[in-house]
Amino acid sequence: MADNEGNLEAKNFSADVSAESGSFFLKGNSHADWGVQNRLARIFNPKSGNTVMLAFDHGYIMGPTSGLERMDLSIVPLIKYADCIMCSRGALRSVVPPEMGKPVALRFSAGSTVLTELNNECLVGIDDAIKLDAAAIAPMVAVGDSNFEAKTVQNLAQCADYTARYGIPTLGVTAVGKNLVRDARYLGLATRVCAENGATFVKTYYCEEGFEKVVAGCPVPIVIAGGKKLPEADALNLAYKAISSGARGVDMGRNIFQSENPPAMIRAVRAVVHEGMKPNEAYQMYCDLSGAR
Ligand code: R5P
Repeated sequence: MADNEGNLEAKNFSADVSAESGSFFLKGNSHADWGVQNRLARIFNPKSGNTVMLAFDHGYIMGPTSGLERMDLSIVPLIKYADCIMCSRGALRSVVPPEMGKPVALRFSAGSTVLTELNNECLVGIDDAIKLDAAAIAPMVAVGDSNFEAKTVQNLAQCADYTARYGIPTLGVTAVGKNLVRDARYLGLATRVCAENGATFVKTYYCEEGFEKVVAGCPVPIVIAGGKKLPEADALNLAYKAISSGARGVDMGRNIFQSENPPAMIRAVRAVVHEGMKPNEAYQMYCDLSGAR
């Protein structure tokens, strides 16, 4: 209990040392609230500035896809290697042990499945995201979808309001429709739309031509999805090129959990993302860890 008598005199003010004004390590977020920055600093490693997010939210539209049939067996052993996990609240509650202590980017929009018209999504309730201690909320945004573009951008804008109110960052997830080309022009537009409508950071895809322009034109950090399963060497190369072009990390699913050796793969991805390991060395690391070749 505080006393009002007999206290030591306060004298360590170091008046000759100026206080640091501080600047945040992730672009576009220097003016964000303390809670937003704190959660971002749990998702992104402040030392490397990057993140390896393990995505296993696919079931919310695809059902039990390959590698996710038994998330308790396939995903839980990988979580310790991830900086952050991205999943639905159903997966979180049913299989992820809370004591693993990893920040969660919560899949925050839901609606249609692969069996009907994709992208017709509404938002999950913010109360549940708070209850689950989400480090980020992740709505899908379908830029260029003539039916659901406006609705999904409105969803994102609603999330940005939640970010402002509750300090939980919004991860804008760009969904690219079947008829759209994943080139720098489209990805640059989609990521910028997310940022301008309040996304704290954005998930998109890598493109061979002009990805550095996509990154430069987006005022907040970009992480890349892995996309469909590639040979391990190609996936590591993809991660390397994205990071070299300015992406701040990966939000990778199938190229990890559908790998021949998922623990070896996520560790090799980590070496690329956090240490800048060259893709051939990372592939060698993958082979060594998995006892292949
Ligand atoms: C797709 O439903 C989700 O947004 C995934 O989290 C995202 O596509 C990343 O997973 P992958 O690396 O498998 O593309």
